[in-house]
Amino acid sequence: MKGILLAGGFGTRLHPLTNAMSKQALPIYDKPMIYYPLSVLMLAGIRDILIISTKRDIKVFKEMFGDGSQLGLNLSYKIQDYPNGIAECFLLAEDFIDNDNVCLILGDNIFYGHDFVKLLKNAMENKSGATIFGYHVSNPSDFGVVEFDDDNNVLSIQEKPKNPKSNYVVPGLYFYDKDVCEIAKNIKPSPRGELEISDINLEYLKRKKLKVELMGRGIAWLDTGTTKGILDAANFVYAIQSRQGLYIACLEEIAYKNGYISKEDLLILSKSLLKTDYGKYIEKFALS
Ligand code: TTP
Repeated sequence: MKGILLAGGFGTRLHPLTNAMSKQALPIYDKPMIYYPLSVLMLAGIRDILIISTKRDIKVFKEMFGDGSQLGLNLSYKIQDYPNGIAECFLLAEDFIDNDNVCLILGDNIFYGHDFVKLLKNAMENKSGATIFGYHVSNPSDFGVVEFDDDNNVLSIQEKPKNPKSNYVVPGLYFYDKDVCEIAKNIKPSPRGELEISDINLEYLKRKKLKVELMGRGIAWLDTGTTKGILDAANFVYAIQSRQGLYIACLEEIAYKNGYISKEDLLILSKSLLKTDYGKYIEKFALS
């Protein structure tokens, strides 16, 4: 399975913060925003990952992660010239996907919680069709809303509806089979001029190949596209990390626990970070 991390966009809801830099490089408490979605792909066990961003911002991510080998990953990069919509990533990534299955995560989405890894692994076992998720929110009109029948079958997905048919919305984490590139080639831009990810999901629904797994209360999903979202997420990460002493999205820890890197590698990675609690946390695993 391949992974795509989509980290482009204008970030207009964050101006002036994003006038000159990527939203996904902004801090969420103690690490850049992009660490969080990257950690999700790593938790799923995905190592071949394509980071898509703008011509302006891609340099930052290349400098941040390089080829990914220090984390046991195989990272590559692609420029999206203009934010033509989330679904455009499958056109840009066709060679990278190379008829494999693929997981897409948006660069401003944070997931954390009980049994989250199990949920990821279950989704990966579905080799044919698409798996997306349903998450209960208080403000469904801001998202793609899923409508269910009494047996939890999906009836519709509506993008930002005025009168939402449920409180379940689709977060920015999607699993698709190899058909996704062909489907992406056949969708048309929406009235707002974007290639919509909802149109891809609707095509899978039409083919009776769409699974929507509900994420329960034990999982936190935070969307960091606004200043309030960033502050809420930073407070959340701070609260969990300081209470538990366990880190959210510590990439080095995940790489070590997945068996991608050794204790010696961890120790080397911690060296330049030792003035921070993040670095000391990594060092602790290396010395344990
Ligand atoms: P959005 O939050 O919808 O768009 P944005 O990041 O440009 O922000 P704003 O609405 O404030 O202008 O994007 C969701 C995620 O998807 C975000 O991580 C950026 C990414 N994205 C792309 O990389 N390319 C695109 O064409 C779009 C639409 C989004």
